[in-house]
Amino acid sequence: MSKLRILLKDADVITVNGNNDLLKKSCIGISGTTIDYVGDYNADLEDNYHTVMNCRGKIVMPGFINAHNHTPMSILRNYADDLKLMDWLFNKIFPIEDKLTPEAVHAAANLAILEMLKGGTTCFSDMYFFMDRVAQAVGDSGIRAVLSRGLQGESGEEDLDYRLQENIEFYKSYHHAFSGRIQVMFGPHSVYTCSLPYLKKVANKAAQMNVPVQIHLSETKDEVKNCIEKYGISPIKLADSAGLLNERTLAAHCVVVDDEDIEILYKRKVNVVHNPRSNMKLGSGVAPIGKLLDKGINIALGTDGASSNNNLDMLGEMRMAAYLQKVFTEDPTALPVDQVIKMATVNGAKALNMHELGKIEPGMKADIIIIDTEKAHYYPKYNAKSSLVYSSNSEDVETVIIDGRIIMKDKEVLTMDEERILFDAQEWAEKLTK
Ligand code: NI
Repeated sequence: MSKLRILLKDADVITVNGNNDLLKKSCIGISGTTIDYVGDYNADLEDNYHTVMNCRGKIVMPGFINAHNHTPMSILRNYADDLKLMDWLFNKIFPIEDKLTPEAVHAAANLAILEMLKGGTTCFSDMYFFMDRVAQAVGDSGIRAVLSRGLQGESGEEDLDYRLQENIEFYKSYHHAFSGRIQVMFGPHSVYTCSLPYLKKVANKAAQMNVPVQIHLSETKDEVKNCIEKYGISPIKLADSAGLLNERTLAAHCVVVDDEDIEILYKRKVNVVHNPRSNMKLGSGVAPIGKLLDKGINIALGTDGASSNNNLDMLGEMRMAAYLQKVFTEDPTALPVDQVIKMATVNGAKALNMHELGKIEPGMKADIIIIDTEKAHYYPKYNAKSSLVYSSNSEDVETVIIDGRIIMKDKEVLTMDEERILFDAQEWAEKLTK
């Protein structure tokens, strides 16, 4: 079978390449799963591609990479709000999670993926359990993902913890599954849900099997205070002493960090995921993103789970990241549009060790979104990047292409039954909270 070849023409392209080029009235050619042309239009081009899509009046850019999520938590969206993190987690979330079934996780993952596709997210990172059901939803929907089994544990002696064993089995079954659309990480949840011997055990296994790790680190003042009381050092120092931090590690949050913590993150080349809305909603504080970026630390962007946000909209997350740093530093030049767009795209790709994503350039994977800007809130048109960060909303995303395949066209997700997914989600929510 010959490769499907698609030409996008007459587009305003936010490339997120090394020069942050914004191309006017340009073309992108897709051959199979890969971008094979970026540049000016010429009539010969149309003969080389099967499908030509006119993108006049539209922004074309790399799909968003949501670098921290718990998709099954979508089933708990708006179930328990306005509570402190530990109260919310231990008294509201964990008791319902105990009742979750593989079928409920599948329904919730479908709901989350549907929402993400509609908002232009083409790749996400996830940490939860019953991950084979999340993997199935990823496979069927056509989205791309980095998945990990959430690990909590006290053991570390002779018994092989069943959760870590599950993560290992999951890695063996699903790493590079669905034409490479899935990659697998290990997911030690945090320093407050895993003992130090257990963290070391995960780190050793990760090194031995060459598997990257994702973990929540220094999310709240309480977490840091309790860790110092128990171990005499901060969560970041503890994770480092366990051997968990390296250039492929994904550390979510990093809100409460001092200069020594920042030095460790820099030295170990750790990738940090900023989750501004989750941090705001849970009253966790503000991650010093400007300071981390100045230090040269790679910062990606994530929504966290839908029950602490409460949506998975990356356009909204970008805007909130920019606003939050401006308020926090009392400096309107903090986190300008080019930086925040990189966080949602190419920095996420680096953080997830997916180096062929996040840019519109020949040779990169064809994970591309088309945003309709023929609407009042985009006019007058001065600067496409500013309008993307400050004026857009997720309903403006019109077309989603992943791995060279059209997954959403004219706002209709072609791979999913939307009505069924909403119905199943409501049915499971009622069953679980009855
Ligand atoms: Ni999280």
